[in-house]
This record gives sequence, C-alpha cells and structure tokens, in this order.
Amino acid sequence: MALDQAAQKAAAAVRAAMEVQPGMVVGLGSGSTAALVVESLGARLRDGLRFFGVPTSEATRLQAERLGIPLTTLEERPELDLDIDGADEVDPRGELIKGLGGALLREKLVASAARRLIVVVDEGKRVARLGGHAPVPVEVVRFGWRGTAARLQALGAAPELRGGAGDPFVTDGGNHILDCRFPEEADLARLAAPIKSLLGVVEHGLFVGMHPTVITGQSDGNCSVHAF
Ligand code: A5P
Repeated sequence: MALDQAAQKAAAAVRAAMEVQPGMVVGLGSGSTAALVVESLGARLRDGLRFFGVPTSEATRLQAERLGIPLTTLEERPELDLDIDGADEVDPRGELIKGLGGALLREKLVASAARRLIVVVDEGKRVARLGGHAPVPVEVVRFGWRGTAARLQALGAAPELRGGAGDPFVTDGGNHILDCRFPEEADLARLAAPIKSLLGVVEHGLFVGMHPTVITGQSDGNCSVHAF
C-alpha cells in the first residue's frame, strides 16, 4: 500500500533521528516534519540516548522541554554536530526553500552552525525548480516594511505580507514575513545575495550552498538518502 504524505514524513523523521549519536549537540528544526523528528528523539532519550538540542523556534523549544530533551544554546555551543530540519522545497541541486512555518532566521543560524545538515521531507517537497509551489519567505523588520516590499518588487518579486496588514504574522524575532513569488524564469539561488542585501531584510528562506543530506520518505515505504 502506498504511503500517504503523513506516513512519508513519519518514516523519514524516524530515519533521521537514528543519525543522532551519544553526546551530540543537535539542532532541532521547526515545522510539522521536524516535530516528528523531535518526537522520535524524545523516544530515543527515554531509551537512554544522551544528547543536547538547540531548538530553532519557541514552538520547538516548548516541545523539546515537554519531552525532557536537555537544551543548550548557540551561545554555549557555537558549533553543532548535526542539525535536522524540514524544508518546503528541495531542488535537484539540494538547494532549499524554508520558512513557511516562519522560523527561517533561527533555522538558518542553527543550520549554519552545524557541521552536518539533514533535511527531512516527503516526496511532494522534491521539485524540479525552486519556487514552483512555495513562495520565498523573506523576514523583514516591521519598521518601514512597505518600503522593503517595494525594494523586493524592484528585484522582480510579488511580495505579500503574511497574515495581511490587519493581523500580520510576527516571527519569534519580532519581525514580519513577506512571502515573495518570482517569475518562473527567475533563478532563485542567484537572487539569494541580492535579496539579503536589501535595506529592511533580516533574512530569507533560500538555503543555498548548504550541502544537506536529504532524507525523503517515499510513497513505496522506503526512505531515500541523498548527500548533496
Ligand atoms: C519552518 O520555518 C519551516 O522552514 C519548515 O521547516 C518548513 O516549512 C517545513 O515544514 P513542514 O514540515 O511543516 O512542511
């Protein structure tokens, strides 16, 4: 029987959690797939595995605390052994879009501090071209966000304030998110640096050049593991 998306995520999450070895400092990702990884790590903790987690969001911190996972910070442990996180899209080069869950800033800080990044996805997240399904989330300071949106438009984006102007989404860092659609012909990996350089932009959800190992839960019940 073919596995549905939820079962694919669960299979990949369990597989990824097996990569954690005793004594490791591990980035704990955010989003529904990463939450399954954290649940699996909670189970491994109950079986006696000792490790430390660095959560990438307040939601993940609360989940990890509920499971009794010992936590540390980037200030205490600036270098991590491993980071395990989800993604919204993975292209054939292993470039990613992340941040539909709104945690992209801490996710990128934690991923960049890790010696190894494992990305856990279901088959639907593997895409031929970045941006075909997911917008690029861009975290911006609240002050003057309309001006920042205009600067993104000048780069070719069609930005939308997440949550709308009446009730905008606020990140863990106290910022807003502009979800940016780009024309089909845009090379998003090449736009990463220009987006980052714009006044008002804090960070964006293009995770490029990070060479992740991608664990994909498949509908046939297997998990593929691809190191980029
Ligand atoms: C959170 O900010 C995101 O980067 C998530 O990792 C990403 O959106 C994947 O989330 P799901 O596993 O819920 O699809």
